Amino acid sequence: MSEKINVLIIGSGGREHALAWKLNQSPLAGRIYAAPGSEGMRDCARPVPMGALEFDKITDFCAGSDIGLCVIGPEEPLAKGLADHLAARGVKVFGPRRQAAMLEASKQLAKEFMRRNYIPTAAFQSFYDPQPAKEAVRSNKKWPLVVKADGLAAGKGVRVCAEEASALSAVEDFMEKRIFGSSGARVVLEEFLEGREASVMALCDGRDFVMLPVARDHKRLRDGDEGPNTGGMGAVAPVELDAETLEKVRVDVLGRFVEGLKKERIPYCGVVFAGLMLTKDGPKALEFNVRFGDPETQTVLPLLSSDLLAHMLACAEGRLAGERPEFHGGACATVVMAAAGYPENPEKGAGIRGLDKVPAGAEVFHAGTSAQDGRFKVAGGRVLGVAARGGDLAEALRRAYAAAGAISFEGMQYRRDIGA
Ligand code: AMP
Ligand code: GLY
Repeated sequence: MSEKINVLIIGSGGREHALAWKLNQSPLAGRIYAAPGSEGMRDCARPVPMGALEFDKITDFCAGSDIGLCVIGPEEPLAKGLADHLAARGVKVFGPRRQAAMLEASKQLAKEFMRRNYIPTAAFQSFYDPQPAKEAVRSNKKWPLVVKADGLAAGKGVRVCAEEASALSAVEDFMEKRIFGSSGARVVLEEFLEGREASVMALCDGRDFVMLPVARDHKRLRDGDEGPNTGGMGAVAPVELDAETLEKVRVDVLGRFVEGLKKERIPYCGVVFAGLMLTKDGPKALEFNVRFGDPETQTVLPLLSSDLLAHMLACAEGRLAGERPEFHGGACATVVMAAAGYPENPEKGAGIRGLDKVPAGAEVFHAGTSAQDGRFKVAGGRVLGVAARGGDLAEALRRAYAAAGAISFEGMQYRRDIGA
């Protein structure tokens, strides 16, 4: 038996709990840590009190605790260069360097990369100044028009505008009022695409990639896709796509993305996540993320039957071509349980009941909880992600909802129509 590998996961949400849960099943895994992690994931990863942006502390910890792989969950440390920092100190990392992370952190760079590499996407124009952007809005003929702030804006930098006035005020908010700070220094005006959305993730070592089951998340707060946008209220996988669409996703979207990385000599190790619009003209990329999706990860990793740590090490060592991930049949459904007041003003502090009543077979991933004397409390907007597999989607949903039904806290909100 070869030596065990100690792993450090960066992040503290439901995605990171799912990563810890899956990595903990690996026969290769030694000690698993999470920074900062959370008490809710203690069964599978020991929390270490360091923030995701404390690069020096993280690097010192990796050296001092014999970390064989650091897995970076969220986009911010990636965009700020944590992977570069760790690699410079000889730590193996799953998560791309800053240069590649800019393909998520700048919508303009991403769109130009897509255009150069013939990745199907919405037509667009980018602007550095508000006046030309407003002129383009005024002369726009096809409505709605999508206005996007260039930089990271916690998912709020995209507005679908039905008419000129709202598009003009989006340009003003982003570029002149700078409601998202420097993220609005540039804007992208984009053609509106019609269709259903889907999310696809692939593991990638910069040369090869392997696709994970296609997922769908539900971004609106309430049933029937009503209410405000959220970080995601639930997800299901696999989304059944016809063979032709699936092949286009593999070849035209993911394949061309990875070919583009190679052509432009951008090293890559991590997840390529494509947000897709399935239009009548075929799948088009809305965006690329350089990390695991949240809550998609909580619904895709339970379907993976092979060893995630082995796959990640293969990525970090540039030998993904030999890896063959395997998946359970059937489907997985994840229901997010959110706090009262989410997403605007989540209320913290409510005690969570019933975690010990969750039926076997369902997994509860902690996204925003804290623990006191062994009791969990609400500590964030998205509180828990309850995931279950089934022989088909209907069974997975029944099990996930049965598990969610065992849990309660004051003011909890969750959708009853995930997967519908
Ligand atoms: P993004 O951050 O670019 O993925 O955009 C966030 C959300 O805005 C997407 O999940 C879509 O629901 C919507 N969206 C973005 N771009 C477009 C587009 N070109 N056409 C229609 N909807 C879009
Ligand atoms: N669920 C979408 C994302 O992680 O960006």
